[in-house]
Amino acid sequence: MCGIIGYAGMANAPELLLESIRKLEYRGYDSAGITVKEGEKLTTVKVLGEINNLEERLSQTSITGTIGIAHTRWATHGIPSENNAHPHSCCTGRLSLVHNGIIENYREIKEELLERGHSFISDTDSEVITHLIEDLMNRIASEDSSSSGDPSKNDDLLLRAVKEAVPKLHGAFALVIASSDVDYLVGVREKSPLVVGKGTGENFFASDVYPLLKYTSDMVYLNDGDVVKLDKDGFTIFDSLGNSVKPIIEVIDWDVEGAQKSGYEHFMLKEIHEQVESIHNTYIGMGGENLFLMKEGKELRSVFPHISDIEIIACGTSYNAGTIGKYFLEQVTGIPVTMAHASEYRYSSPVTHNPFIIAISQSGETADTLAALREARKRGSLTLAITNVVGSNITRTADFTLFTRAGPEIGVAATKTFTAQIIVLYMIAILMKRSKRGEQSEVDALEASLRSINRVVQRVLVNTDQIKEYARFLSKASTIFFIGRNINYPTAEEGSLKLKEISYIHAEAYPAGELKHGPLALLSKETPVVALISGDHVREKMYSNIGEVMAREAPVLIVAEEGDEMANKYTDRVLTYPKCPPLMSPIPISVILQLLAYYTAKERDCTIDKPRNLAKSVTVE
Ligand code: M6R
Repeated sequence: MCGIIGYAGMANAPELLLESIRKLEYRGYDSAGITVKEGEKLTTVKVLGEINNLEERLSQTSITGTIGIAHTRWATHGIPSENNAHPHSCCTGRLSLVHNGIIENYREIKEELLERGHSFISDTDSEVITHLIEDLMNRIASEDSSSSGDPSKNDDLLLRAVKEAVPKLHGAFALVIASSDVDYLVGVREKSPLVVGKGTGENFFASDVYPLLKYTSDMVYLNDGDVVKLDKDGFTIFDSLGNSVKPIIEVIDWDVEGAQKSGYEHFMLKEIHEQVESIHNTYIGMGGENLFLMKEGKELRSVFPHISDIEIIACGTSYNAGTIGKYFLEQVTGIPVTMAHASEYRYSSPVTHNPFIIAISQSGETADTLAALREARKRGSLTLAITNVVGSNITRTADFTLFTRAGPEIGVAATKTFTAQIIVLYMIAILMKRSKRGEQSEVDALEASLRSINRVVQRVLVNTDQIKEYARFLSKASTIFFIGRNINYPTAEEGSLKLKEISYIHAEAYPAGELKHGPLALLSKETPVVALISGDHVREKMYSNIGEVMAREAPVLIVAEEGDEMANKYTDRVLTYPKCPPLMSPIPISVILQLLAYYTAKERDCTIDKPRNLAKSVTVE
């Protein structure tokens, strides 16, 4: 996730862009940059680190102009550095581009462009787009001049080249492009957010409306496939078929704090809703290039076929994601997986063999996980880290790193990073299975479901009224149990952790079959039980366990697949998620449980984004 801004107007662009991009810093903050059109040339300034560094650098220059673009980065391809920071230029320097998203096929495009004489200075996927547009501009200009004899001062060249470039790009991208040849910007939206702000004598692009509210409340939310030509006097939107479309202007009437959360009351709620995007970005980020990551002469992909057992180490929510991954890995690859709490691993006795270690930490800075990882390396294991933060400590400690691409998570309760971790673990299992000979059709089908699981999540998020109603009911309890079996036992653990963390209600999770071995003694009319059900081989067993709970008069809330007739036979309190393969069910169920925890905490007036006694990153052991 990155933040982008574009401006064409009459104000001093560097100042306006700087102020505006600062308001998008929540989308990323590892490097930043700005390009301003100064007369007939583009001037770019880029820095490593936060916007403050950009401000300082700009204060040492005298750049002026009224058209420009700016970017704040959350690294996905290439480490945070000045070279990898945006805006990215092309060979001649006549174009400058900012990008938010991931280009899946950038390697193929880059190879073609290298053959055609382009040279690159960054490791990013984004730089490739600038060169692609430049290449297309050259081709269109030479075709125009050979057909008309006019070597073209073609004002529409940039727009035409962008329109041709867009179908060649696969992935998610919002782009804004400036050119030294023209006084307009071109913006593109494809599965990454981009809005147009309509002002008077000035117009804007931005990743969200927040930075623009100071200048205008008239916003246009673009659709996927839209290409926009924008200058100070107006803008034209072209849909994916190239037709110009009438903009739908929405008047946004938000206060500043609300706007930073894009209108959501809390960051946690915003981050829950961002999962449609973060799951997709993480999935496409796992395509291709990660497998080539080398460390000390080894390529991750070459390691996969030789792994015979795995140990996952993590804390809290990352541990729960790991346990869901364990069930998936074992079922798909047949490789045994053990789980270790990072805080325990370090003090455990070394075993006689060295399993492949996967350490999971969204922050990449959790002291317990880092210490366990160091210990694992000392014991001789090969290690892979999964983290959301490029450049974090864990990336320097592990042999290999795979990134979740969830963007910054501000709420202390982990939500979008949790589902992103599941996606990475599932893809590891799929890739491990593919690295071995044998029948692959099952794994192909699983990957197809994973690819579209964000749409299932989208449907869960459409209507949350019933979740709110049950949250009102749960908010009055003092103890709540969560039960699940098989892959949804760790889902229950995560539901329980989320609830206790932000609502301060005591909650416990159990494998449903364990209730009768002790906890059943605690059940009564006062102890609600949340039961998680998918269409898998333990579904009927789950219903038997629910029967045991109901016999003790405990109120039950069932989370089940749409169309599971059995659920309503047991209770009126049922929440459903769209049908999906059972191994995918932890993803939509977790989103429901996140919302349930959120609304329960809200009923109880809790400080949701900053729960008492907790911190986002736990850097002490
Ligand atoms: O940054 P990490 O993933 O290593 O953090 C581990 C836990 O501290 C973290 O998941 C914690 O449990 C969350 N706040 C739960 O929402």
